[in-house]
Order: sequence, then C-alpha cells, then structure tokens
Amino acid sequence: MKISIIGTGYVGLTTGTCFAEVGHEVTCVDNNPEKVQTLLDGKIPIYEPGLEDLVKKNVAAGRLKFTTSTEEGVENGDVVFIAVPTPPQPDGSVDLSFIEKVAREIAVCLTPQSGYKVIVDKSTVPVKTGEKVAETVKRYAKPGCEFGVVSNPEFLREGSAVDDLLNPDRIVFGSNDERATQLMQKIYEPFVAPVLVTDVESAELIKHAANSFLALKISYINAVGRICEKSGADIEKVAEGIGMDDRIGRKFLNAGLGYGGSCFPKDIKAFIAISESLGYPFDLLKQVEQINDDQRTLFLSKIREKLWVLQDKKIAVLGLAFKQNTDDVRESVAIKLIHEMLAEGAQVTAYDPEATETAKKFGNLDGKITFAEDVYSCVEGAEALVIATEWPEFAHADLAKVRELMSANLIFDGRNLIDPVAAANQGFEYHSIGRPVTGA
Ligand code: UGA
Repeated sequence: MKISIIGTGYVGLTTGTCFAEVGHEVTCVDNNPEKVQTLLDGKIPIYEPGLEDLVKKNVAAGRLKFTTSTEEGVENGDVVFIAVPTPPQPDGSVDLSFIEKVAREIAVCLTPQSGYKVIVDKSTVPVKTGEKVAETVKRYAKPGCEFGVVSNPEFLREGSAVDDLLNPDRIVFGSNDERATQLMQKIYEPFVAPVLVTDVESAELIKHAANSFLALKISYINAVGRICEKSGADIEKVAEGIGMDDRIGRKFLNAGLGYGGSCFPKDIKAFIAISESLGYPFDLLKQVEQINDDQRTLFLSKIREKLWVLQDKKIAVLGLAFKQNTDDVRESVAIKLIHEMLAEGAQVTAYDPEATETAKKFGNLDGKITFAEDVYSCVEGAEALVIATEWPEFAHADLAKVRELMSANLIFDGRNLIDPVAAANQGFEYHSIGRPVTGA
C-alpha cells in the first residue's frame, strides 16, 4: 500500500517507520526542513529504542522516504495520515489549528484525477473532529475530488513504541465509508492483532476514554497508597492482591509520584473539557487530576518534614524523564519536583540515563542544577536521595556504595524501586509511596 504521513513527530515517525517495516511504501512529510534533513541522514531526533535501526533499514530498502512537500505526500499516498500535534490550550481544551491547517493543505493537493484518497486522523483529537476534517477538505478541495475520512487512534507508549506498533493489543479505526474501511483493512493486514472497526466518533472517543481510564487506575492506586501510609499497610501488596483479580489486572497499578508525559495530563484535561462542552461535567476525572497533582505535593512535604529546611541542602535526584526508556521530559514530575525544591533553596544534582540534554533544553534547568554522569557521582555528598523516574538502572544501584558516598542517610523513593528492607539494612532511613518507613 502507498501511505503518507503528515507530521514526523513521535507518532508520525514511529507509525510511518513501522508501516514501512511491514512492507508498505511510506512517504513521511514534515514542514521542518532541518528535521527532514536529519532523518535523510539516517539520524532520528528522539530517543526511542529500536527506531533508528528500523529507519535506516527501511530508507535503505527504498520503502521509507522523507520530504517537506505535502503535495508530494498526497500524490504518493492512497491513504494520507495526519499525525500533527494537538496541544492543550490554557483552558484545557485542544488546539486543533494544526489539524485544520493540514486538512486544508491536503484538500488543495487533491485533484479529481488523483482518484479516491483516504484521510486518516492519527493525532489524539476530541470527538467529532473527523466531521470537521471532512467538512474542511470538502470546502477547500476542487470539485470532483473523492475522499473518505477515518479516525485511527494510536496506543503506543514512549519507550516501547516500536513494539507497541508492530505487536499491538488491538487496532481500532472508525470509518463511515466502505471504500475507506477496505483500504484501512488492507493496511493492517500484515499485523497480527484484533481489529475493531467502529464509526468515526466512537474511534475518537476510544482514545480519550482509554487514556483517562489508565490515568484513573494510577490515581486510584495512589489514593489507596495514602490510606496505606495512614494504616501501616503496604501498597505493593495491596496492588498485587487486587491485581490478581483478572477483571482488575496488575498493570498500571504502580503507585508513585503520579503520571506525566505528553499524553495523560493533556488528554485528561481535554476529555474533561470535551465532556463539559457536551453537557456532562466529568467530575471523576477532575478528581483523577487532583490526586495526581497532590501526589507530588505530598511527597515534597515528606522531604521537607525530614530535612526541616531545604535551603542549601544537597539533594541528589535520580531521573529527569517523565518515565523510563525515554528522553522525553514533557510534563515530567521529576522536573516539576526539582523546580519546587530549587524554589526552596536546595542544591540539586541530577542524573538521568537519557534525558540530560532534553532537560537542559526544555526543562529550564541549565545552569540551575548540576548534571551528573552516573548514579554514584550524582549521590556524592548528598544529604538526601530522591528517586523520581522508574529507570531499572536505579533499582539495581549498589546501595552500600551509595550510602558510603552520601553525607546523610535519607532516601525518598518516589517510584517504589528499592526494597525497603534492603535500604534499611544498608543504614538508610527509607521513605517511599504507600509503604511503611524503614530504618528510622
Ligand atoms: C500513554 C499510554 O500508555 C499509551 O497507550 C498511549 O498511546 C499514549 O499515552 C498516547 O496517548 O500517546 P505514555 O505517555 O508513553 O503512553 O506512557 P505510559 O507508559 O502510559 O506512562 C504515563 C505516565 O504514567 C508516566 O509518567 C508513568 O510514570 C506513569 N505511570 C504509569 C504510573 O505512575 N504508574 C503506572 O502504573 C503506570
């Protein structure tokens, strides 16, 4: 199949590359010439395990092309995917101006001679966006152009995006047009996964409802964690016990500092705004957000309670990325926490296996903190160690060595990565989320 992807951000680039990997002919379009040049040089602008090799392989095989020309993209693709950003506006609703612009650009590139095209929305959008895209394309296209509009939400996670795309749990697309449905089915033929075909509106809603449900699971376990702290129970055991029920499942029940990233915070806000505009105030999701925000505040108050004053205290922070296996620091709880500690005068040294450069560039931390090269240089001389991101490397650190290097014995583990008994055995006073304090 001939496919084009407009927008080579996280979603566009990984989706386009994986489509090429399964044998489709893919043209990726981006309006940023530097980014396109980087990709043509075989480099990728993000850290995503396995992606660079796949890009190189498929470019070399002639199945994956990059261009700045939307016209070339529309000409080369029977199916044109839109994968551009849908950022939040100050009131939480979604800024759809990039989608609208691309819909217009695609429309003017269509010709009656180019035949039937499918325009697929891959970006996360509010329900009824497909209807707007169809109206827009119809308005700006020349008479006689034939097209269908489809919604095809993505469910990839940063850090495991390639695997999520090549081996998905499910494929969902919404189409109100039989010709579009058939072409979409052909695109997904090489993938071994159940395919759910719905109407456009349901597919759009599935994306927001899925992300909100996952965020709800996280806030739920964090709320239960608070009860654990007050009662002496252990959230890890509680999560295991409730997760053994197949109807609940253990996944996404990891208590911690709460969710961050480019998706959950934005999507939950958007879903609240959409529901509100449709006449349903989604109070449950407002609570999910509130619990998530409070999680960081409560954690900081634990640190404050022990260190008494943060002014001039040396604090080592492990983790800058919003989660493990990524260099993405968007809406990173680690970065927010660091800024809050800096505001109280703490001296912060941080280490992240991949996100140092992005934290300097986008986290507004350059010149404000010291960036360490590894766990051990990070903790040297520190009075307290804070674990803010769930990198496996932090769980495997040599605690005896860490204790030797630090000048005091406090650990605040915001991701429950370390065994509380092991920490206490090494002489630490160990605080975590939803578990009893050890070594005090
Ligand atoms: C999320 C969804 O998991 C994907 O299915 C979806 O496609 C994607 O958003 C999107 O909308 O594009 P992602 O943001 O990459 O993917 O990361 P997750 O692995 O879902 O983690 C999100 C946040 O939740 C992280 O900050 C993580 O630390 C936190 N988290 C996750 C917890 O605090 N506890 C958990 O049990 C799981």
